Amino acid sequence: MIEYPGKFNLKFDRLIAVDEFIEKVLYHPKAGYYSKKIPFGSRGDFITAPTISNLFSEIIGIWLVSTWEKLGSPERFNLVELGPGDGSLSKVLLRTFKNFPKFNKSTKIYLYEKSGLLKKSQKNNINSSKIKWINNFNSIKKGPVIFFGNEFFDAIPIKQFSYFKSQLFEKHFILNRESGLSETYRKASKDDISKIKYYKTFKNSKFIEYPKSGFRELEVIVKKISKLSGGIMLIDYGYLDTINSSTLQAVMGNKKMNMISLFKNLGKVDITYLVNFNLLKEFFTKKDLKVKNIVSQKFFLEKMGILERAKILSKTMTHKEQNYMKLTLMRLLHKNLMGDLFKVIFAYKSNRNNFLGFE
Ligand SMILES: C[S@@+](CC[C@H](N)C(=O)[O-])C[C@H]1O[C@@H](n2cnc3c(N)ncnc32)[C@H](O)[C@@H]1O
Repeated sequence: MIEYPGKFNLKFDRLIAVDEFIEKVLYHPKAGYYSKKIPFGSRGDFITAPTISNLFSEIIGIWLVSTWEKLGSPERFNLVELGPGDGSLSKVLLRTFKNFPKFNKSTKIYLYEKSGLLKKSQKNNINSSKIKWINNFNSIKKGPVIFFGNEFFDAIPIKQFSYFKSQLFEKHFILNRESGLSETYRKASKDDISKIKYYKTFKNSKFIEYPKSGFRELEVIVKKISKLSGGIMLIDYGYLDTINSSTLQAVMGNKKMNMISLFKNLGKVDITYLVNFNLLKEFFTKKDLKVKNIVSQKFFLEKMGILERAKILSKTMTHKEQNYMKLTLMRLLHKNLMGDLFKVIFAYKSNRNNFLGFE
Protein backbone atom coordinates (compact mmCIF):
# COMPACT_ATOMS: atom_id res chain seq x y z
CA MET A 1 0.00 0.00 0.00
CA ILE A 2 1.28 3.43 -0.88
CA GLU A 3 0.47 6.44 1.28
CA TYR A 4 -0.03 9.59 -0.75
CA PRO A 5 0.28 12.57 1.47
CA GLY A 6 -2.65 14.93 1.12
CA LYS A 7 -0.06 17.64 1.56
CA PHE A 8 0.28 17.74 -2.24
CA ASN A 9 -3.50 18.23 -2.56
CA LEU A 10 -3.62 14.97 -4.47
CA LYS A 11 -6.63 12.73 -4.12
CA PHE A 12 -7.02 8.98 -4.59
CA ASP A 13 -9.05 7.61 -7.49
CA ARG A 14 -9.30 10.94 -9.31
CA LEU A 15 -7.94 11.67 -12.73
CA ILE A 16 -5.24 14.27 -12.90
CA ALA A 17 -3.62 15.54 -16.10
CA VAL A 18 0.14 14.96 -16.39
CA ASP A 19 1.04 18.66 -16.15
CA GLU A 20 -1.16 19.26 -13.10
CA PHE A 21 0.35 16.27 -11.37
CA ILE A 22 3.93 17.46 -12.05
CA GLU A 23 3.06 20.99 -10.94
CA LYS A 24 1.84 19.69 -7.56
CA VAL A 25 4.69 17.35 -6.80
CA LEU A 26 7.42 19.74 -7.94
CA TYR A 27 6.11 23.16 -6.99
CA HIS A 28 3.54 22.79 -4.19
CA PRO A 29 4.63 25.74 -1.99
CA LYS A 30 5.20 23.52 1.07
CA ALA A 31 5.55 19.91 -0.01
CA GLY A 32 6.83 20.25 -3.59
CA TYR A 33 10.28 19.02 -4.59
CA TYR A 34 11.58 22.50 -5.42
CA SER A 35 10.15 23.91 -2.17
CA LYS A 36 11.98 21.51 0.11
CA LYS A 37 15.32 20.69 -1.34
CA ILE A 38 18.36 22.21 -3.05
CA PRO A 39 18.61 19.57 -5.73
CA PHE A 40 21.90 20.40 -7.43
CA GLY A 41 25.43 19.04 -7.12
CA SER A 42 27.09 15.68 -6.56
CA ARG A 43 25.24 15.23 -3.24
CA GLY A 44 21.97 16.40 -4.73
CA ASP A 45 19.80 14.71 -7.32
CA PHE A 46 21.27 16.08 -10.50
CA ILE A 47 24.18 18.08 -11.80
CA THR A 48 23.77 21.10 -14.02
CA ALA A 49 26.48 22.83 -16.06
CA PRO A 50 26.76 25.96 -13.86
CA THR A 51 26.96 23.87 -10.67
CA ILE A 52 29.93 21.85 -11.95
CA SER A 53 31.82 24.41 -13.99
CA ASN A 54 32.58 28.09 -13.53
CA LEU A 55 34.10 27.95 -16.99
CA PHE A 56 30.66 27.22 -18.46
CA SER A 57 29.22 30.26 -16.68
CA GLU A 58 32.15 32.42 -17.73
CA ILE A 59 31.58 31.49 -21.38
CA ILE A 60 27.89 32.38 -21.06
CA GLY A 61 29.07 35.71 -19.61
CA ILE A 62 31.36 36.33 -22.59
CA TRP A 63 28.51 35.49 -24.94
CA LEU A 64 26.22 37.98 -23.15
CA VAL A 65 28.84 40.73 -23.44
CA SER A 66 29.38 39.91 -27.15
CA THR A 67 25.61 39.97 -27.74
CA TRP A 68 25.40 43.42 -26.14
CA GLU A 69 28.19 44.55 -28.50
CA LYS A 70 26.41 43.04 -31.53
CA LEU A 71 23.27 44.93 -30.52
CA GLY A 72 25.26 48.15 -30.79
CA SER A 73 26.47 48.44 -27.17
CA PRO A 74 23.24 50.07 -25.89
CA GLU A 75 23.61 52.37 -22.88
CA ARG A 76 20.69 50.71 -21.19
CA PHE A 77 20.64 46.89 -21.30
CA ASN A 78 18.78 44.20 -19.35
CA LEU A 79 19.61 40.58 -18.58
CA VAL A 80 17.14 38.15 -17.07
CA GLU A 81 18.23 34.76 -15.83
CA LEU A 82 15.29 32.35 -15.96
CA GLY A 83 15.22 29.69 -13.22
CA PRO A 84 18.62 30.45 -11.67
CA GLY A 85 18.72 27.37 -9.37
CA ASP A 86 21.24 28.02 -6.60
CA GLY A 87 22.55 31.17 -8.31
CA SER A 88 25.86 29.64 -9.49
CA LEU A 89 25.65 31.07 -13.01
CA SER A 90 24.83 34.65 -12.05
CA LYS A 91 27.48 34.61 -9.34
CA VAL A 92 30.17 33.98 -11.97
CA LEU A 93 28.54 36.46 -14.39
CA LEU A 94 28.93 39.28 -11.85
CA ARG A 95 32.64 38.49 -11.55
CA THR A 96 33.13 38.20 -15.31
CA PHE A 97 31.28 41.44 -16.09
CA LYS A 98 33.71 43.42 -13.90
CA ASN A 99 36.24 42.97 -16.72
CA PHE A 100 33.92 44.89 -19.07
CA PRO A 101 33.26 48.23 -17.30
CA LYS A 102 31.21 49.90 -20.03
CA PHE A 103 28.98 46.84 -20.39
CA ASN A 104 28.74 46.49 -16.62
CA LYS A 105 27.63 50.10 -16.22
CA SER A 106 24.91 49.72 -18.87
CA THR A 107 23.52 46.42 -17.65
CA LYS A 108 20.83 45.54 -15.12
CA ILE A 109 20.54 41.93 -14.02
CA TYR A 110 17.27 40.32 -12.96
CA LEU A 111 16.66 36.84 -11.57
CA TYR A 112 13.29 35.21 -12.26
CA GLU A 113 12.65 32.32 -9.86
CA LYS A 114 9.53 30.50 -8.78
CA SER A 115 10.76 28.49 -5.78
CA GLY A 116 10.91 30.37 -2.46
CA LEU A 117 13.61 28.03 -1.19
CA LEU A 118 15.83 28.50 -4.24
CA LYS A 119 15.32 32.26 -4.11
CA LYS A 120 16.71 32.18 -0.56
CA SER A 121 19.64 30.07 -1.67
CA GLN A 122 20.36 32.54 -4.52
CA LYS A 123 20.27 35.45 -2.09
CA ASN A 124 22.72 33.65 0.21
CA ASN A 125 25.00 32.85 -2.69
CA ILE A 126 24.95 36.26 -4.36
CA ASN A 127 25.45 39.39 -2.36
CA SER A 128 25.18 42.20 -4.88
CA SER A 129 23.06 45.30 -5.18
CA LYS A 130 23.35 44.89 -8.95
CA ILE A 131 20.85 42.03 -8.92
CA LYS A 132 17.11 42.33 -8.58
CA TRP A 133 14.73 39.41 -8.01
CA ILE A 134 11.50 39.65 -9.97
CA ASN A 135 8.22 37.72 -10.27
CA ASN A 136 7.23 39.36 -13.57
CA PHE A 137 8.94 41.53 -16.16
CA ASN A 138 6.94 44.75 -15.64
CA SER A 139 9.88 46.67 -14.21
CA ILE A 140 11.92 46.18 -17.39
CA LYS A 141 10.88 49.18 -19.42
CA LYS A 142 13.82 50.50 -21.40
CA GLY A 143 16.69 49.08 -23.41
CA PRO A 144 17.06 45.72 -25.16
CA VAL A 145 16.58 42.64 -23.00
CA ILE A 146 18.22 39.23 -23.17
CA PHE A 147 16.56 36.36 -21.34
CA PHE A 148 18.63 33.24 -20.73
CA GLY A 149 17.98 29.99 -18.93
CA ASN A 150 19.91 26.81 -18.39
CA GLU A 151 17.59 23.85 -17.77
CA PHE A 152 14.70 26.25 -17.21
CA PHE A 153 12.26 25.06 -19.85
CA ASP A 154 12.56 21.35 -18.98
CA ALA A 155 11.52 22.14 -15.40
CA ILE A 156 8.11 23.49 -16.49
CA PRO A 157 5.35 20.83 -16.52
CA ILE A 158 4.13 19.47 -19.87
CA LYS A 159 0.93 17.93 -21.14
CA GLN A 160 0.97 14.58 -22.96
CA PHE A 161 -1.41 13.46 -25.71
CA SER A 162 -1.82 10.47 -27.96
CA TYR A 163 -3.80 9.80 -31.13
CA PHE A 164 -6.17 6.82 -31.08
CA LYS A 165 -7.99 6.24 -34.38
CA SER A 166 -7.11 9.82 -35.43
CA GLN A 167 -8.68 11.33 -32.34
CA LEU A 168 -6.54 13.17 -29.84
CA PHE A 169 -6.64 12.03 -26.19
CA GLU A 170 -4.87 13.52 -23.19
CA LYS A 171 -2.92 11.37 -20.75
CA HIS A 172 -3.95 11.46 -17.10
CA PHE A 173 -2.69 9.71 -13.99
CA ILE A 174 -4.85 7.99 -11.39
CA LEU A 175 -3.58 7.40 -7.88
CA ASN A 176 -4.89 4.29 -6.17
CA ARG A 177 -4.37 3.52 -2.49
CA GLU A 178 -3.60 -0.16 -3.15
CA SER A 179 -2.08 -0.35 -6.61
CA GLY A 180 -0.29 3.00 -6.76
CA LEU A 181 -0.20 4.69 -10.09
CA SER A 182 -1.86 4.00 -13.37
CA GLU A 183 -2.41 6.07 -16.47
CA THR A 184 -5.40 6.55 -18.67
CA TYR A 185 -6.58 8.80 -21.51
CA ARG A 186 -9.48 11.20 -21.89
CA LYS A 187 -10.61 13.15 -24.96
CA ALA A 188 -8.48 16.26 -25.41
CA SER A 189 -10.16 19.65 -25.02
CA LYS A 190 -11.04 21.65 -28.14
CA ASP A 191 -8.64 24.34 -27.06
CA ASP A 192 -5.71 21.92 -26.74
CA ILE A 193 -6.57 20.22 -30.04
CA SER A 194 -6.50 23.52 -31.91
CA LYS A 195 -3.24 24.54 -30.21
CA ILE A 196 -1.58 21.26 -31.15
CA LYS A 197 -2.87 21.37 -34.74
CA TYR A 198 -1.38 24.85 -35.07
CA TYR A 199 2.16 23.40 -34.99
CA LYS A 200 3.60 21.70 -38.08
CA THR A 201 6.18 20.05 -35.83
CA PHE A 202 3.45 17.70 -34.56
CA LYS A 203 2.18 16.81 -38.03
CA ASN A 204 3.35 13.20 -38.09
CA SER A 205 3.45 12.60 -34.35
CA LYS A 206 1.40 9.87 -32.71
CA PHE A 207 2.47 10.83 -29.20
CA ILE A 208 2.71 14.52 -28.35
CA GLU A 209 4.33 16.42 -25.53
CA TYR A 210 2.90 19.91 -25.40
CA PRO A 211 4.51 22.49 -23.10
CA LYS A 212 1.35 24.50 -22.44
CA SER A 213 2.62 26.19 -19.25
CA GLY A 214 6.07 26.68 -20.76
CA PHE A 215 4.57 28.43 -23.79
CA ARG A 216 2.52 30.63 -21.46
CA GLU A 217 5.78 31.76 -19.84
CA LEU A 218 7.39 32.28 -23.25
CA GLU A 219 4.41 34.32 -24.55
CA VAL A 220 5.09 37.01 -21.92
CA ILE A 221 8.83 36.94 -22.62
CA VAL A 222 8.34 37.21 -26.39
CA LYS A 223 6.04 40.22 -25.92
CA LYS A 224 8.78 41.92 -23.92
CA ILE A 225 11.40 41.14 -26.56
CA SER A 226 9.13 42.31 -29.38
CA LYS A 227 8.63 45.62 -27.59
CA LEU A 228 12.17 46.34 -26.42
CA SER A 229 14.24 44.20 -28.88
CA GLY A 230 16.76 41.62 -27.72
CA GLY A 231 16.28 37.87 -27.45
CA ILE A 232 16.08 34.67 -25.49
CA MET A 233 18.66 31.90 -25.20
CA LEU A 234 17.63 28.52 -23.80
CA ILE A 235 19.96 25.62 -23.07
CA ASP A 236 18.34 22.30 -22.33
CA TYR A 237 18.52 18.55 -22.63
CA GLY A 238 16.53 18.00 -25.81
CA TYR A 239 16.07 16.68 -29.33
CA LEU A 240 15.40 17.65 -32.93
CA ASP A 241 13.84 14.53 -34.51
CA THR A 242 10.40 13.34 -33.48
CA ILE A 243 10.54 10.87 -30.56
CA ASN A 244 6.88 9.75 -30.47
CA SER A 245 6.90 8.45 -26.91
CA SER A 246 7.01 9.82 -23.39
CA THR A 247 10.29 11.52 -22.47
CA LEU A 248 9.34 12.15 -18.83
CA GLN A 249 12.16 11.26 -16.47
CA ALA A 250 12.25 10.98 -12.71
CA VAL A 251 15.65 11.58 -11.13
CA MET A 252 16.85 11.10 -7.55
CA GLY A 253 20.42 10.92 -6.24
CA ASN A 254 21.79 11.41 -9.77
CA LYS A 255 19.97 8.23 -10.89
CA LYS A 256 16.93 7.78 -13.07
CA MET A 257 14.06 5.93 -11.48
CA ASN A 258 10.95 4.20 -12.73
CA MET A 259 7.43 5.52 -12.28
CA ILE A 260 6.61 3.13 -9.41
CA SER A 261 9.61 4.29 -7.37
CA LEU A 262 8.64 7.84 -8.26
CA PHE A 263 5.26 7.45 -6.63
CA LYS A 264 6.82 6.03 -3.50
CA ASN A 265 9.00 9.11 -3.25
CA LEU A 266 6.72 11.99 -4.16
CA GLY A 267 8.28 15.34 -3.33
CA LYS A 268 11.77 13.80 -3.14
CA VAL A 269 12.16 13.23 -6.88
CA ASP A 270 12.73 15.64 -9.72
CA ILE A 271 10.66 15.18 -12.88
CA THR A 272 11.86 16.53 -16.20
CA TYR A 273 11.34 15.84 -19.87
CA LEU A 274 13.32 16.29 -23.07
CA VAL A 275 12.74 19.58 -24.81
CA ASN A 276 11.51 19.50 -28.41
CA PHE A 277 13.76 22.15 -29.99
CA ASN A 278 12.03 22.16 -33.38
CA LEU A 279 8.80 23.00 -31.58
CA LEU A 280 10.53 25.86 -29.74
CA LYS A 281 11.84 27.13 -33.06
CA GLU A 282 8.39 26.99 -34.63
CA PHE A 283 6.89 28.75 -31.60
CA PHE A 284 9.38 31.63 -31.82
CA THR A 285 9.14 31.90 -35.61
CA LYS A 286 5.35 32.10 -35.46
CA LYS A 287 5.80 34.99 -33.03
CA ASP A 288 7.96 36.81 -35.58
CA LEU A 289 11.26 36.29 -33.80
CA LYS A 290 14.27 35.21 -35.85
CA VAL A 291 15.99 32.03 -34.73
CA LYS A 292 19.67 31.16 -35.10
CA ASN A 293 20.72 27.58 -35.97
CA ILE A 294 19.94 25.23 -33.11
CA VAL A 295 23.34 23.88 -32.04
CA SER A 296 24.70 21.41 -29.51
CA GLN A 297 26.19 22.65 -26.25
CA LYS A 298 29.58 21.35 -27.46
CA PHE A 299 29.34 23.39 -30.68
CA PHE A 300 28.29 26.53 -28.84
CA LEU A 301 30.91 26.37 -26.08
CA GLU A 302 33.73 25.52 -28.49
CA LYS A 303 32.72 28.32 -30.87
CA MET A 304 32.79 30.68 -27.90
CA GLY A 305 36.38 29.60 -27.14
CA ILE A 306 36.00 27.38 -24.07
CA LEU A 307 39.06 25.26 -24.96
CA GLU A 308 41.30 28.29 -25.47
CA ARG A 309 40.09 29.80 -22.20
CA ALA A 310 40.74 26.49 -20.39
CA LYS A 311 44.29 26.43 -21.74
CA ILE A 312 44.98 29.93 -20.40
CA LEU A 313 43.48 29.13 -16.98
CA SER A 314 45.40 25.85 -16.69
CA LYS A 315 48.75 27.71 -16.78
CA THR A 316 48.24 28.99 -13.23
CA MET A 317 46.54 25.87 -11.86
CA THR A 318 47.85 23.05 -9.69
CA HIS A 319 47.95 19.56 -11.19
CA LYS A 320 44.86 18.62 -9.17
CA GLU A 321 42.95 21.67 -10.41
CA GLN A 322 43.95 20.93 -14.00
CA ASN A 323 42.64 17.37 -13.68
CA TYR A 324 39.36 18.59 -12.23
CA MET A 325 38.96 21.08 -15.08
CA LYS A 326 39.65 18.34 -17.65
CA LEU A 327 36.95 16.21 -16.06
CA THR A 328 34.34 18.97 -16.08
CA LEU A 329 35.26 19.91 -19.67
CA MET A 330 34.64 16.30 -20.66
CA ARG A 331 31.23 16.36 -18.99
CA LEU A 332 30.30 19.59 -20.74
CA LEU A 333 31.61 18.65 -24.18
CA HIS A 334 31.61 14.87 -24.65
CA LYS A 335 29.00 13.88 -27.18
CA ASN A 336 27.55 11.11 -24.99
CA LEU A 337 27.40 13.40 -21.98
CA MET A 338 26.15 16.99 -22.04
CA GLY A 339 27.99 17.91 -25.27
CA ASP A 340 25.46 16.62 -27.80
CA LEU A 341 22.48 15.88 -25.57
CA PHE A 342 22.12 19.52 -24.60
CA LYS A 343 21.11 22.01 -27.28
CA VAL A 344 21.19 25.79 -27.47
CA ILE A 345 18.57 27.97 -29.14
CA PHE A 346 18.64 31.75 -29.56
CA ALA A 347 15.55 33.61 -30.79
CA TYR A 348 15.76 37.35 -31.21
CA LYS A 349 14.31 40.56 -32.52
CA SER A 350 16.91 42.87 -33.98
CA ASN A 351 18.14 44.16 -37.32
CA ARG A 352 21.48 42.57 -36.54
CA ASN A 353 22.05 38.86 -36.80
CA ASN A 354 25.77 38.24 -36.44
CA PHE A 355 25.52 36.84 -32.90
CA LEU A 356 28.36 34.53 -31.90
CA GLY A 357 28.22 30.82 -31.19
CA PHE A 358 25.78 29.43 -33.73
CA GLU A 359 27.65 29.28 -37.06
C1 LIG B 1 16.52 22.34 -13.31
S1 LIG B 1 16.64 23.80 -12.40
C2 LIG B 1 17.99 24.64 -13.22
C3 LIG B 1 18.69 25.61 -12.34
C4 LIG B 1 19.86 26.39 -12.92
N1 LIG B 1 19.48 27.14 -14.08
C5 LIG B 1 21.03 25.50 -13.24
O1 LIG B 1 21.32 25.26 -14.43
O2 LIG B 1 21.68 25.03 -12.30
C6 LIG B 1 15.19 24.69 -12.89
C7 LIG B 1 15.04 26.06 -12.28
O3 LIG B 1 13.93 26.73 -12.87
C8 LIG B 1 13.06 27.21 -11.83
N2 LIG B 1 11.71 27.30 -12.40
C9 LIG B 1 10.95 26.31 -12.89
N3 LIG B 1 9.77 26.78 -13.36
C10 LIG B 1 9.82 28.11 -13.20
C11 LIG B 1 8.91 29.17 -13.52
N4 LIG B 1 7.73 28.91 -14.10
N5 LIG B 1 9.28 30.43 -13.25
C12 LIG B 1 10.49 30.68 -12.67
N6 LIG B 1 11.37 29.73 -12.33
C13 LIG B 1 11.04 28.46 -12.59
C14 LIG B 1 13.28 26.19 -10.72
O4 LIG B 1 12.79 26.58 -9.48
C15 LIG B 1 14.80 26.05 -10.78
O5 LIG B 1 15.45 27.16 -10.23
